[in-house]
Amino acid sequence: MKTELEFHHVGNTRLHRVNSANTFGNTVFAKCEFMNPTGSHKDRTFLHMVTELEARGKITPGMTLVDCSTGNGGAALAWIGRKKGYKVVIFMPEGMTEERKRQIREFGAEIIETDREHFLNGSVLAAKKFIAGKPAGQFYFLDQGSSLLNKSAWIQCGKEIVSQLEGQNVVPDYFVCSIGTGGTFSGIAEVLKARYQNLKTIGIEVDKSAPLYAKKYNLDFTHKPHNMMGLGAGVLSCNTNEEVIDEVVVVSGEKSWERMKKFIEVERLGIGPTCGANLYVCEEISKVVTGKTIVTLFFDSAWKYKSRWSGVYPEYSGS
Ligand SMILES: Cc1ncc(COP(=O)(O)O)c(C=O)c1O
Repeated sequence: MKTELEFHHVGNTRLHRVNSANTFGNTVFAKCEFMNPTGSHKDRTFLHMVTELEARGKITPGMTLVDCSTGNGGAALAWIGRKKGYKVVIFMPEGMTEERKRQIREFGAEIIETDREHFLNGSVLAAKKFIAGKPAGQFYFLDQGSSLLNKSAWIQCGKEIVSQLEGQNVVPDYFVCSIGTGGTFSGIAEVLKARYQNLKTIGIEVDKSAPLYAKKYNLDFTHKPHNMMGLGAGVLSCNTNEEVIDEVVVVSGEKSWERMKKFIEVERLGIGPTCGANLYVCEEISKVVTGKTIVTLFFDSAWKYKSRWSGVYPEYSGS
């Protein structure tokens, strides 16, 4: 984390060439979103959402901003809210890491934990109930799962990727990225698809909670507990633009955590488990194609998971 956190530190992140994933002449580039001020990609999402809502006159400093999060979005909103003069309340499923909760509280926000059984859906219902009883004009539920401002936050990141690739005279063949709300994937994919006609996009879901995969392949969807915080909330968000997703694959938490740890050991960049999922899929593609360029994204930072470094979340049995 940077010591002096400023809004101009959000975005313009590095495009890292992944040395350990390059086989058969393929090249993997990862957009390093974990380098944002609070350690995750959600700084972009929430800075954009808050700025836009202010510009539209929906929120003004002094109000209380509310949202649901497994941690990254909560930290981003807590930081932005404090800097801009808002109170922040974050609804969060039980059992998220202590590091994440501490970070949110250090930025002065309140956390309201909701029961593990209903995971993020339970947090959304609780936030809606909380807001319903409050005076209008004093509280605002940003609702990153349902607000399309989430997706539009990622247009800028897509443009940065285009310019960084052009700077190296590279045309990407694949864009590979995990899907939670899908805002990150879809905003970037919309830009890349418009720029590169032959680009193939691959969305990733965690195997235990994969609503998009179930929809695409006509399977029954069930949400099961998992250890890939940020993915698999149990619902498909309107921020997931299916028109820009060519293929959906599922990855297990086990493989993702394993891949993350190996990457940290070899490349010394502290990334989180959902980055491991992205890398794993990039490598699977690299095994069957030659001379291709694959673009992916590193969402957040390893330090956010230190107290659960085994990858086991006891609250979420079966993870
Ligand atoms: C660690 C992590 N990875 C991936 C995602 C997915 O991002 P998005 O919600 O934009 O799909 C999230 C979302 O919270 C996350 O926290």
